[in-house]
Amino acid sequence: MRIGVLTGGGDCPGLNAVIRAIVRKGIPGYGHEFVGFRDGWRGPLEGDTTVLDVQAVRGILPRGGTILGSSRTNPLKIENGIARIKENLASLGVDALIAIGGEDTLGVARALHDSGVPVVGVPKTIDNDLNATDYTFGFDTAVGIAMEAIDRLHTTAESHHRALICEVMGRHAGWIALHAGMAAGANVILIPEKPFDIDRVVAYVESRFRTRYSPILVVSEGAHPVDGQMELLGGDLDAFGHVRLGGIGEWLAKEIEKRTGKEARTTVLGHIQRGGTPTAFDRVLATRFGLQAIDAVNEHDFGIMVALRGTDIVRVGLDEATATLKTVPVERYAEAEVFFG
Ligand code: F6P
Repeated sequence: MRIGVLTGGGDCPGLNAVIRAIVRKGIPGYGHEFVGFRDGWRGPLEGDTTVLDVQAVRGILPRGGTILGSSRTNPLKIENGIARIKENLASLGVDALIAIGGEDTLGVARALHDSGVPVVGVPKTIDNDLNATDYTFGFDTAVGIAMEAIDRLHTTAESHHRALICEVMGRHAGWIALHAGMAAGANVILIPEKPFDIDRVVAYVESRFRTRYSPILVVSEGAHPVDGQMELLGGDLDAFGHVRLGGIGEWLAKEIEKRTGKEARTTVLGHIQRGGTPTAFDRVLATRFGLQAIDAVNEHDFGIMVALRGTDIVRVGLDEATATLKTVPVERYAEAEVFFG
C-alpha cells in the first residue's frame, strides 16, 4: 500500500517517535511505502509532499517537533476542502492515510473517513484532553517541564516573600496544571473546569503567607473566575471568550497585590511546554501508538484511533475519540485541593 502520513495542530514532543515507528515497521515489516504530507492538512489540500522512508526517520526519536511540519489548517472550514484532499490523494496514488493530531485534526480524519477515505488516527496533545485514551504523548513531557519550572519558583518566592504564579497551557482542560501543580506542591491550582472565587484564592494566599512560606499558584491559561466576578477581568478576552495567553496569570498577580499588599509575579511558560525532547514515557507511548497504527492500516481496520487503556494499546472509533473533550473530573481536582493554602 501507499500510505500518507501527516501531523496536524499544535506540535508536541513524541510526534517524530510515532512517524519513525510507522515507517520502521511499515517498510521492512510489511513492504508498504509512505508519502509524507507537509504541515498537517495543508499538505493533502495542496498536494505538498515529502519523502518518508527509513533514511528520513533516522535519528529522529529524541527530537521534539515534527519532521513533517504542522499547521492548524482545517479543510472543513475551506470550500471544497474534503473534495480537494480526495482528488490529491487519488492523483498521488495514496491508498490510506494516517493522521496524527488532536481533536481538530481527528475531526477532519473522521469526516474524511465518512466520505470514503481509509483513515487511521493517532492521538496527540500536550493538553491530554482527548477523549477515549488514558493519556496522550507530549503530556508527560509538558508536565515535567512545568514541574521543574514550579520547583524553581519555590526558592525565589521564598527569598523575596512573594506570591509567584505559574501560568501553564490548557485552554479547555486543566490536566497540565493539575499534574504539574500536584507534582511541585503548588498551594493553589486553578483550572478551566472549575471557575474560581478570587476571594478564596486570596484567602489561600494569605494563609500561606501567615505560615511564613510563600504561596505558589499554578493556573491554566483557560481558568477564569466565577460568573459574578468575570467583569473584574476587564474584558481582556480573545475571540473565543477565553482570557488571552498571559492574561489570567497577570490578572491574578495584580489582584493578589491589590488585596494582600504583598508582591506577586507571573511566569507564563507558553510554548516551552511544547518544545524539546520527549520523556521516556512519551517516546515509548508514541512508538507503541505508531506500531499499532501501521498494524491497523495493514489489517484494513480504518475509521479508528489508536488509544491507551491501562497499559494496553487498543483501537477505538474515531467518532468516540472526537465526541467530547476529556476534562478533569471533580474528584481529581478535590485530591489537589487537600493541599491548598
Ligand atoms: O496544543 C494545544 C495547545 O498547547 C493549547 O494548550 C494552547 O492553548 C494552544 O495549543 C496554543 O496554540 P498555538 O501554538 O497555536 O498558539
